[in-house]
Amino acid sequence: MSELSFKDKVVVITGAGGGLGKHYSLEYAKRGAKVVVNDLGGSLGGQGGDAKAADIVVNEIRAAGGIAVADYNNVLDGAKIIETAVKNFGTVHIVINNAGILRDASFKKITDKEFQLVLDVHLNGAFQVTKAAWPYFRKQEYGRIINTSSPAGLYGNFGQSNYSSAKSALIGFAETLAKEGEKYNIKANVIAPLAKSRMTETILPPPVLEKLSPQKVAPLVLYLTHDSNEVSGQIFEVAAGFYAQIRWERSGGVLFRPDETFTAEAVAKRFDEILNFDDSAKPELLKNQHPFMLNSYGELISAAKQLPKNDLSGAPS
Ligand code: NAI
Repeated sequence: MSELSFKDKVVVITGAGGGLGKHYSLEYAKRGAKVVVNDLGGSLGGQGGDAKAADIVVNEIRAAGGIAVADYNNVLDGAKIIETAVKNFGTVHIVINNAGILRDASFKKITDKEFQLVLDVHLNGAFQVTKAAWPYFRKQEYGRIINTSSPAGLYGNFGQSNYSSAKSALIGFAETLAKEGEKYNIKANVIAPLAKSRMTETILPPPVLEKLSPQKVAPLVLYLTHDSNEVSGQIFEVAAGFYAQIRWERSGGVLFRPDETFTAEAVAKRFDEILNFDDSAKPELLKNQHPFMLNSYGELISAAKQLPKNDLSGAPS
């Protein structure tokens, strides 16, 4: 197979001064992309700022003959980051929403500020950057987006109610972007990585960290954003060289009819059936949501047939 080239593609990578983002930057640049290395260079908790983080990565890329420019804006100023791309390289083709912070605290102790700050950087930051890139994507009929979720966003994690909320929101965000972007050749996918970085090096034991180099995550990000990838709106778990897709699964379900059995007691009685996945389905569209109901009621079937392709009321023009 020939090399997956990114020649002349403009890639914006947020939080690329260290950890995973740094390795994505180096890899894209090696393959011919023009890279915007964004990082405000703050602490793990999001305090402070230092241009050095992004500069070091840009210098490394340039020293190896690659093309890159540093950007020191907060992701909440997403428009400025995209402006850096446009000013230097004319447009943007790929956005990697990667910047992140941690403010772990048990739910009992977490403050409003700790909850809000984490949502801001991960979710609102991704929104601001993507929103600013979107008009370019639409106009050129080309765009690739990666949102960075986390196993904590998929499964929850003790002490991370803020982080896991933000990380699971990034999934719904990408699923919707994939649907709205489809006719403009805009693809959005999600990764839930695990890798050695300052985020994990105080939590995981050294022998485990050794296996979790960030270089083992980059290949999936690159493939998902390459022209040759057709997949959009999907979630992938990636760690230590293991790559897998995650998807929704709905149990076979139970149909309660609106008669005397339509009570909380009836739910209690049949709860095991609701939890039974023997006859499960794997829905991907909103309109796939209630096949049991739709099959059972003629009027709902005809209503479903009238739904637009992606079930978007108020779909964009
Ligand atoms: P990291 O701390 O090395 O990288 C995050 C970068 O984002 C830092 O360089 C930081 O300066 C930058 N950043 C933070 N707030 C910013 C802001 N407001 N604007 C611009 N830049 C900002 O950590 P790592 O591990 O490389 O994390 C990258 C992404 O992967 C994060 O979104 C993280 O939540 C996610 N992730 C990482 C996992 C891991 O095992 N390392 C696990 C699951 C998710």
